[in-house]
Amino acid sequence: MGDPVDGRAGAPGAVSRRRLLGTAGAAGAGGLALGAVGGAVARAVTTEEAPTALSSVGSTAVAFHGGHQPGITTPLQAHGHLIAFDLARGAGRKEAAALMRRWSALAAELMEGRPAEAGNHRDTGVALDAGPSSLTLTFGFGRSFFDRTGLAARRPAGLDPLPPFSADRLDPRRSNGDLWVQIGADDGLVAFHALRAVQRAAGNTASVRWQMNGFNRSPGATARPMTTRNLMGQVDGTNNPAPSEPDFDRRIFVPASSPDSADSWLAGGSYAVVRRIRMLLDDWDGLGLTEQERVIGRRKADGAPLTGGSETTQLDLERLDRDGKPVIPANAHARISAPEQNGGAAMLRRPFSYHDGIDTDGTPDAGLLFICWQADPLRGFVPVQRKLDRGDALSPFLRHEASGLFAVPGGARQGEYVGQRLLES
Ligand code: HEM
Repeated sequence: MGDPVDGRAGAPGAVSRRRLLGTAGAAGAGGLALGAVGGAVARAVTTEEAPTALSSVGSTAVAFHGGHQPGITTPLQAHGHLIAFDLARGAGRKEAAALMRRWSALAAELMEGRPAEAGNHRDTGVALDAGPSSLTLTFGFGRSFFDRTGLAARRPAGLDPLPPFSADRLDPRRSNGDLWVQIGADDGLVAFHALRAVQRAAGNTASVRWQMNGFNRSPGATARPMTTRNLMGQVDGTNNPAPSEPDFDRRIFVPASSPDSADSWLAGGSYAVVRRIRMLLDDWDGLGLTEQERVIGRRKADGAPLTGGSETTQLDLERLDRDGKPVIPANAHARISAPEQNGGAAMLRRPFSYHDGIDTDGTPDAGLLFICWQADPLRGFVPVQRKLDRGDALSPFLRHEASGLFAVPGGARQGEYVGQRLLES
């Protein structure tokens, strides 16, 4: 998928720390292309902060504090880890609050490229020399979290369980969870370092329920930023809502509600739907190119609609061929999932590909860690997946193997931790 915001900017670290910190947040200030990323601000780390000279990839940092959590509109990173935890027996609201405080302090220091000290453990050293590498940590609460913490009355309606879909083959052990953390970075060691630090900081409060690893194209692999490809080879992410669109915030982020409403704590937050979607690659790769393109409704080489133009040209859903049939087939994935076909339902897709090896029968265990963000799952993922479930040409090549739904609070302000407005209300 394409970078929703090209907001990260690296710079050789020859600029004084004072100057950088003084200007962080002002795009382009001081001659550096620093970009705002959905409330989070990207900046470069200086040589004074980092022990070794860094490339622009290594030096780029995304701010932890802001109106929204990082990792939602942040451009896709090359490496991702998803990890879900369940609270330990006996751990309730107080312990959950302490954990969120610990994790938030940890995220803030790691995202600046500093060693992990807030987790009450000695830093492992895994990320030394690498800089922040656009690391983001994003935290969410699952439905069960509210029962475990005695906060069921404040559970938002958006966390009602997703309906079953006919193509679901869900493994409950790899689905849902009390707490969810999404980690992304442009360096594999930085991402692993954060994963390990998060797990260690959970201590006795929460234990790992499931964990998944993913990847995207490396920054710098192409001369100019390009939409990524998935493991079917398709350009994936073209028609995502863009933060520059006037209704972006309304579609992706939960609006502020009256302070006494049950979910007022979620203002500025979002809902993440997470699906581990296995691709049946032997079947897919056996399909001819024309058939593959008809399944999506777009050309494989450049992602342009079958009705012509370039990647960013709008699909012409009305255009008929000489036989009077739609050029973009009636069951093409891009047609069926388009907002105009679903009462305006829209979501921001921000996935990672995954590959977990080859099964004993020789089939690759590979696909998409599909993550989509929306202000309300009932006006995002649910209606679109219902529609896809009924007649998407892509469905025969997919198997949904795990599922999660998480309420992701708004960003923490300075001095605050993620979820504080819920846990201390
Ligand atoms: C492994 C599974 C999937 C693959 C390989 C896939 C692939 C694609 C591709 C190649 C496109 C066209 C390019 C683009 O606009 O990004 C697309 C568009 C889209 N997909 Fe998927 N997709 C998958 C699953 C899903 C699911 C589960 C949903 C939601 C329930 C979804 C929703 C969408 C939407 C909303 C669009 C944009 C449609 C438009 O406005 O043009 N996709 N997908």
